[in-house]
Amino acid sequence: MTKEELIQKAIEARTLSYSPYSHFAVGAALLCKDGSLYLGANVENSSYPLSMCAERNALYHALMEGKKKEDFEALAIVADSDQPCSPCGACRQVLSELFPANKPIYLANLNGDQKITHIHELLPFAFDKEDLGL
Ligand code: THU
Repeated sequence: MTKEELIQKAIEARTLSYSPYSHFAVGAALLCKDGSLYLGANVENSSYPLSMCAERNALYHALMEGKKKEDFEALAIVADSDQPCSPCGACRQVLSELFPANKPIYLANLNGDQKITHIHELLPFAFDKEDLGL
C-alpha cells in the first residue's frame, strides 16, 4: 500500500469520528507488515478528558487483534487542519511505546499537505521503560 493510499484510508476513517464538542474530526490508518490495516477516529465525550484520539484508537484496535509493535509498517493521521495534523503529546508518548522508531508516520490534511516524520522526531528524549529501570 502506498503512502497516498494509506492517507486515503485515514481520510475514510475520519468520517467515523465522533467529535460533537471540538468539531475537529481526525482519522488514522495503521498499516501492518502483513498488509492488514487498522483504522481509528477520535471519539469524544461530554466529560472532555475521556475523549480518545484517532491514532490511539487505531493502535489499540490493532493490539486487540493481536498485533505487536514489530508488526507495524506505517501510520497516517489526517485532519482538516491548516498544517498536516500534528499528534498530541499523549499520543506521542503512546506511539513511542508501541510504534517502531524506524517506521514512517505520515501527517496530512485535506488540502493535500503532507509531512513524513518518525516518533523520535515527534518525541525526542522520551520517557520509557528504561527510566523505570526495566
Ligand atoms: N485529536 C486526535 O484525535 N488526534 C490528534 O492527533 C490531535 C487531536 C483529537 C482530540 C479531540 O477529539 C480533537 O482532536 C480536538 O483536540
